[in-house]
Amino acid sequence: MTKITFSLIKADVGGFPGHSSVHPDLIRTAESHLEQVRKSGALIDFRVMSCGDDLELLMTHINGCDNGEIHAIAWECFEQATETAKKLKLYGAGQDLLSDAFSGNIRGMGPGVAEMEFNERVSEPIVAFMMDKTEPGAFNLPIFRMFADPFNTAGLVIDPACHQGFVFEIWDIMAHKKVFMKCPEEMYDVLALIGAKSKYVIKRVYPKSGGKLPEEEAVAVISTEKLFQTAGTYVGKDDPAGLVRSQSGLPALGEVLEPFALSHLVSGWMRGSHNGPLMPCSFETAHPTRFDGPPRVIAAGFQLAFGQLVGPVDLFKDIAFDLARQRALQITEYMRAHGPFEPHRLPMEDMEYTTLPHVMKKLSDRFVPTE
Ligand code: 13P
Ligand code: 13P
Ligand code: MG
Ligand code: MG
Repeated sequence: MTKITFSLIKADVGGFPGHSSVHPDLIRTAESHLEQVRKSGALIDFRVMSCGDDLELLMTHINGCDNGEIHAIAWECFEQATETAKKLKLYGAGQDLLSDAFSGNIRGMGPGVAEMEFNERVSEPIVAFMMDKTEPGAFNLPIFRMFADPFNTAGLVIDPACHQGFVFEIWDIMAHKKVFMKCPEEMYDVLALIGAKSKYVIKRVYPKSGGKLPEEEAVAVISTEKLFQTAGTYVGKDDPAGLVRSQSGLPALGEVLEPFALSHLVSGWMRGSHNGPLMPCSFETAHPTRFDGPPRVIAAGFQLAFGQLVGPVDLFKDIAFDLARQRALQITEYMRAHGPFEPHRLPMEDMEYTTLPHVMKKLSDRFVPTE
């Protein structure tokens, strides 16, 4: 059977207003482009979505990951949406397109990419997570809890198909290196790395060999592009996206969503320079306006049917996440009260990639030795 590839490629090509949301005309521009492409046969199906000011292209096809044709389609889509954004004078039009010309692979050019190629199972539930005002490391805690924490995922304890655990592919995004580690065997070492979420990020999760699912097919993937490293200066945060497959040997849908009830602290809020709670929210409320935040995550649930996207279902719209939102709002009050002080403001090392060094420059000659 032909393998299906699910590609989620996203970029901020202009905010409306400021950095708060995507203008409907950008969505229409992207949809009409992708519809033409789908008719030509290059895509099986697509959805255009948004989280905050990020335009999210969800596409299914049979070309595999890192495919030049698919990446070119996404790039063209973002270029056309940028044209629309320029006409409307939207904020930061073309913000994430760091290059003028497409060179065969969209990675390293600004947009975020999460892609998985797999044999579609008898039933294939899949969740697309999209975040705004945060960084790829924001996924570390929830992905760890889904695939390695028995207090979150009952299946790790009581389902023989999950019981052996999973393999984590972890990237050092500063040194551009990766390591594969097994859970539960190496759980403490995994945590030693991924707790430092601005350096080590979970890129993919795989099943172990000898289980129900093929060990070479990823079951979760996160976009890990670091915009500031590509751009060399602050041009907005690399708001991440991720894909997680579920059920039948994988965490159940509810186990995939459960970690987001914490509203854990992540960085990226206001000028990419502040920590705040990651608030799970509905599609309609994913428009961060309070101090450009707090950071948001939405979850779009699909069933795949021969590559067709059946959905989305707005999974965090459930009232069962209301308390998580309430808690996020309480944390928001508390964190905001710290104003320009750490740990609301990011530590100095992380501020190197913001506009702060320009402010600090004029103070440099005023420093004299201490006694
Ligand atoms: P599956 O093993 O079919 O995924 O069922 C588990 C489940 O959904 C329990 O909530
Ligand atoms: P975005 O990365 O979502 O564009 O936000 C940038 C920002 O500085 C918000 O305050
Ligand atoms: Mg923006
Ligand atoms: Mg954004």
